[in-house]
Amino acid sequence: MSPDGRSPWWETAVVYEVYPRSFADSNGDGVGDLRGVIDRLPYLASLGVDAVWLTPFQTSPQVDQGYDVSDYCDVDPLFGTLGDLEDLIAGAHELRLRIIVDLVPNHASVEHPLFRAAVAAGPGSEERSLFHFAPGGSDGGPPNDWPSVFGGSAWTRAVPDSAEDLDWYLHLFAPAQPDWNWRNRAVGDFFEEVLRFWLDRGVDGVRIDVAHGLFKAEGLPDMGDLPPRADGLRINPLARDQEEVHDVYRRWRRVAEEYAPPRLLVGEVNLPPDRAARFTRPDELHQSFAFTFMGIGWDADAWLRVAEELERVRRQSGSLPTWALENHDVQRAVTRFGGGQVGEWRARAALVAMLGFPGCAYVFQGQELGLPGVDVPDAAKRDPMWERARVSRDGVRVPLPWTAAADGFHGFSGVRDGARPWLPQPEGWGLCAVDGQGQDSASMLTLFRQAIRMRRALVGDGTLRSGDPAEWSLTPGGLLLCRRSGGFVVALAMGDQDVPIPDGRIVLCSAPLVSGQLPPDAAAWVLTG
Ligand code: NOJ
Repeated sequence: MSPDGRSPWWETAVVYEVYPRSFADSNGDGVGDLRGVIDRLPYLASLGVDAVWLTPFQTSPQVDQGYDVSDYCDVDPLFGTLGDLEDLIAGAHELRLRIIVDLVPNHASVEHPLFRAAVAAGPGSEERSLFHFAPGGSDGGPPNDWPSVFGGSAWTRAVPDSAEDLDWYLHLFAPAQPDWNWRNRAVGDFFEEVLRFWLDRGVDGVRIDVAHGLFKAEGLPDMGDLPPRADGLRINPLARDQEEVHDVYRRWRRVAEEYAPPRLLVGEVNLPPDRAARFTRPDELHQSFAFTFMGIGWDADAWLRVAEELERVRRQSGSLPTWALENHDVQRAVTRFGGGQVGEWRARAALVAMLGFPGCAYVFQGQELGLPGVDVPDAAKRDPMWERARVSRDGVRVPLPWTAAADGFHGFSGVRDGARPWLPQPEGWGLCAVDGQGQDSASMLTLFRQAIRMRRALVGDGTLRSGDPAEWSLTPGGLLLCRRSGGFVVALAMGDQDVPIPDGRIVLCSAPLVSGQLPPDAAAWVLTG
């Protein structure tokens, strides 16, 4: 239950995303691990968040930093052991933190035993029917024109040099990530077991990677000439949002409800809000991420448009939005909102605003510190997208600064044997460190803790009721307002002048008022009578 005692806990929760590689390294090999997370559980509890989402730690060759899984039911030695994970779950529960784990059902790793067996078994075999294998086109090229999300073709030859085996296999992401064929019922049975395996370990929820993508259009037809997006990549409508996928989540929902209390299913449903809402119908997933916010900059009209659309969809579907400004795939808010001091003020304001919006909020590690995106040198980049599309997400995955002192790589790691953090920390990283910010009453970390404490109190006393509709508006001065029931108003100053805010008691502010008005790039929570 949530602090208001009435709704499931996740409806009002703040969930903190831990990217284990970059969180805390306990064994000094330069890569964060589960023991590192265990060591920092008191920090996570001190933030006041309700739950921790761990991105993949399962066995993996780490081509896509764990999103290429070779054993779904074990922990990669890089991160520790299953025993460590069990300790982590138990330790978190003692501190009243819930644990959400990542499940990657769209694709496996080329090292997965079932994929290796499929390659070995040859064309036309039953083993190959677990994945998408197909002979090349008449020109000797790939079976169809689908692009990979990571750039280039979505097909790779199964046995590149063979004159007999002319099959290709489908991978929507890197060639190291072959897509499962969900039209084969055995795949559904396999993943039900995987789901149960993690729920039986006592996790409180599961985040589903590429939840919209499991089914591909029957027959894998060509996609034709769709225009590329601004980033040069192309969205393939034939590889997403197929009707059959909903039966998977109906099945998973029945499984999640066998547990007491029921476990959370949250999908990475990267679709427009009205399509995404179909994944959270009452017998499917509980939540999907609202991606639209992560894609916009500091633009009041865009914020209003996105918020109103989410509100409209929410009222129609009855399913609450989940708010997120950052994750391990998108540019940090500080940088996206302009960088430097201005970017920092805006990121503070945006975080306060988001935590005041109705529904569950997801924050990404380091967001509470106001970390900027880092310009990682090309030679140090590790993202498989870099090689194929010259796009890199490494800059938001740089290991956290825990201490201002640079020794031990700002407390991230007591590296040994000449090891270095898997991504380099930049000059000045210590200025954002947890230790300094923890002692600074004006820091982003302090603000984050204050916001969560206040949010909990307002949910607990019944002021904030997530299910109630909200009214969104924008004043000519660029003040975005979200009016919720209980007289609670979120005010976000996105223009370039000081603006008056609604009368009432200000319970939180991201920056001091100026002559009673909210300055640009600031946010406040107001209780109006
Ligand atoms: C979404 C994950 O968040 C991202 O990091 C990953 O590369 C893709 N899915 C593929 O698994």
